[in-house]
Amino acid sequence: MKGLSLAIVGATGLVGREMLGILKERGFPISQLRLFASERSTGLTLPFKSENLEVERLEAGCFRGVELALFSTGVQVSLDYAPQAQREGAVVVDNSAGFRMEPGVPLVIPEINPLDLEDQRGLVANPNCSTIQMLLALNPIHQAAEVERVFVSTYQSVSGTGQDAWEELTKQSRDLLRGRKPKPYVYPHQIAFNLLPQIGNFNPKGHSAEEIKLAQETEKILHNQRIKVYATTVRVPVFRGHSEAVTLQTRERLTASQAKELLSHAPGIKLMEGEDYPLPIDCVGRDEVLVGRIREGEEEENILQLWVVADNLRKGAALNAVQIAELIKDKL
Ligand SMILES: NC(=O)c1ccc[n+]([C@@H]2O[C@H](COP(=O)([O-])OP(=O)(O)OC[C@H]3O[C@@H](n4cnc5c(N)ncnc54)[C@H](OP(=O)(O)O)[C@@H]3O)[C@@H](O)[C@H]2O)c1
Repeated sequence: MKGLSLAIVGATGLVGREMLGILKERGFPISQLRLFASERSTGLTLPFKSENLEVERLEAGCFRGVELALFSTGVQVSLDYAPQAQREGAVVVDNSAGFRMEPGVPLVIPEINPLDLEDQRGLVANPNCSTIQMLLALNPIHQAAEVERVFVSTYQSVSGTGQDAWEELTKQSRDLLRGRKPKPYVYPHQIAFNLLPQIGNFNPKGHSAEEIKLAQETEKILHNQRIKVYATTVRVPVFRGHSEAVTLQTRERLTASQAKELLSHAPGIKLMEGEDYPLPIDCVGRDEVLVGRIREGEEEENILQLWVVADNLRKGAALNAVQIAELIKDKL
């Protein structure tokens, strides 16, 4: 199989480093791999297979010869450099929120809407981590019984904010255990031994950016404007792995055992039963979205409740992006 000339932009970050591992594990065909990050990392080397690859700086012309660029930086870097990468001939898969809701940009979870990739015009967006795991668990139920309303509370780990937040939780935990007052610098309040019911800025109606992403991305990925998502998103002092308590109201009645049967065959899902429920510490390094605590409401209510846990750095980000790359690589 012909290898591709590939670039990872944001290669030194939590998601970028995970991408390197996943590309190697899955044997993604690569003829040349280029790594980019900010100026502070220029010249650093990262191991890939038997090589040590040097991290380069983003500059005009840097994407010449690159066929596929996986972006895993913040919104502004994607907005500034993804169009440049496209102009220089690369197809971009972007992890940031910069382009997700743009008409004409496919927003793809490969197990759910791979056909949207047929319309790709050089830029594909990777959904938000909390959206990916929720929809992977919700979609088999939606296909069988049409989900009308979703009530979700999230418990999101600090790795979802990147490497600085990981360091902040480490430092604050150490400070508090030593009796020192912690200083917040990434989050607006202390995160260690606490939780924060705010992920992103609030809009005038009081919804956070993360809550809005969950609702809007769900509509776009499922091609369904009727589905309503009522989210409360919460940052918790867990390093890695997002958890979600999801309540679904369906048009048709589905029992808990029917939902379990559906989920037991669903791609990308690991069903867990009884007291063997999913925990964030168990999802680290795993590809599947773990689903447990499945239960139903009263007969006339058409309610199902689930507990959904996934590794936000893998299926929530790097793995989903690599799966998209696998689907588009043969057409490049
Ligand atoms: N973490 C998650 O669970 C998750 C899930 C879904 C989507 N995402 C999205 O993925 C992106 C990366 O997340 P992350 O967690 O990996 O963040 P991170 O750990 O903070 O890493 C950010 C990366 O971007 C690079 N970068 C920052 N400013 C840059 C600039 N001006 N020019 C070039 N590179 C620059 C950094 O390079 P240096 O190391 O040199 O600073 C680093 O490689 C974000 O858009 C995030 O929203 C993350």
